[in-house]
Amino acid sequence: MSGAWPKAWKTSTGGLSERADTVLIADRVSKSYATPRGDLRILTDVSLSLERGAAIAIMGPSGSGKSTLLYILGALDTPSSGSVSLDGADPFGLDEAAQAAFRNRHIGFVFQDHSLLPQCSVLENVLSPTLVAPAAERAGREDEARARALLEQVGLCDRLEHRPAELSGGEKQRAALARALIRNPVLLLCDEPTGNLDRGSADTVADLLLELHAARQTILIVVTHSAALAGKFPVRYEMTGGTLVRQEA
Ligand SMILES: Nc1ncnc2c1ncn2[C@@H]1O[C@H](COP(=O)(O)OP(=O)(O)OP(=O)(O)O)[C@@H](O)[C@H]1O
Ligand SMILES: [Mg+2]
Repeated sequence: MSGAWPKAWKTSTGGLSERADTVLIADRVSKSYATPRGDLRILTDVSLSLERGAAIAIMGPSGSGKSTLLYILGALDTPSSGSVSLDGADPFGLDEAAQAAFRNRHIGFVFQDHSLLPQCSVLENVLSPTLVAPAAERAGREDEARARALLEQVGLCDRLEHRPAELSGGEKQRAALARALIRNPVLLLCDEPTGNLDRGSADTVADLLLELHAARQTILIVVTHSAALAGKFPVRYEMTGGTLVRQEA
C-alpha cells in the first residue's frame, strides 16, 4: 500500500472550528428517537474532522450507533441536532432532490449486503450512479471506460456481463466498491464491507479498499466488527456510550 496518511484528524465531544484543509466536519452531532418509553439517545455530541486522504475505522458493540453515524455523515439520515459539512456544503440545507444529487456526486457507499441491482450486469451496476447524474455531468463513453478500468482494478474485468447472482460474495463486494468509486467521490463510507465474507475474500476486499483509497485520497470511513479489517487502518475509533473514542495505536 502506498500514499501518505494525513497528519491531523481529531474528534471531540465539543464544538469544532473549521479549518481550510478539512473537508468533512461533523459538529456536535446528536441523534435520538422518540419511543413510547421516552427519548432513546443514540449519539451524543459527536464531533469529527477529517482531511482529504484520511482513513479511519469505527468499531463498537452492536446497537452502539455506528451505522447511524455513518448514515448521517453520508446524508442518508438526519441528525436530531448538530451539523455536517462536506467541502463546506451543508447537505441538510438542501431539498430532497438536491440532497440525492449531492450524495450521488460526492459520496460513495459500500454496504454489507452489496446492494447491487440484480437485473443489471456488473458493468451496468458500476455505471448506474452515472446514469442518474445530471445530464451535464454525464460523460457517456468516458464513464464506461472508467467503469471498465475500475472493474479491472478490482479484478473483475472478466465478469463484466455477469449478473450479481452469478458472482461470489467477494466479487459482489468488489463490484460494489467499483460502483462506489465511479463518480470519484470525496467521501467513501463503508458499513461492514467484509461482514459477509470469509477471511480470504475479506482480506482481498480490505486490501483493495485501502489501495484504492491511497491512490485516490478520498476520505474513507469504515464501520466494522472485524478486528482484522480495523487493524489495517492507521486510526481507529470505538463507538461507546453515544460518543467516538479514539483508540491508541
Ligand atoms: N427508527 C428507529 N427508532 C428507534 N430506534 C432506532 C431506530 N433506528 C435505529 N434505532 C436504534 O439505534 C441504535 C443504533 O443502531 P445502529 O444501527 O446505528 O447500530 P450499530 O452500531 O450499527 O449496530 P450493528 O453493529 O449491529 O450494525 C440501535 O439500538 C437501534 O435499535
Ligand atoms: Mg450497523
